[in-house]
Amino acid sequence: MKILVLNGPNLNLLGLREPALYGKGTYAELEKHVQDVARRLGVSAEMRQTNHEGTLVDWIQAAYGAFDAIVLNAAAYTHTSVAILDALKAVKARVVEVHLTEPKEREEFRRVSYVGMVAEKTFSGLGFGSYAAALEYLAANP
Ligand code: DQA
Repeated sequence: MKILVLNGPNLNLLGLREPALYGKGTYAELEKHVQDVARRLGVSAEMRQTNHEGTLVDWIQAAYGAFDAIVLNAAAYTHTSVAILDALKAVKARVVEVHLTEPKEREEFRRVSYVGMVAEKTFSGLGFGSYAAALEYLAANP
């Protein structure tokens, strides 16, 4: 199974960024964690990060026919991006939404999730474990 793991804005700053919320682990450590879990599960995971909404749209479009599912932490774009929602719908992507924190327990503006409108599953509030849970879910439901 080929899984594309996409990360949105500011996730490159993990470790530096609000460690009380997001933890001390860096983006590089998150990537290693994802690869370790993928290897254990016998799936392939390609992980990318961008700060740009249009780049996420481009990657979602290009995933059509190339990946079996997308694990998506759209970060702040989760709560704002109709363009990302439309791209996910356009290519009928199988998407699992992930968040390090639990957005629904934070500010009011984080309660809306456009990604969640099409995600078949959401894992949040588990730190790096949200990504592991998403990969485990997909490996168990190929
Ligand atoms: C996040 C939660 C979002 O609300 C926030 O904008 C992020 C990270 C998370 O992983 O907890 O950038 O997606």
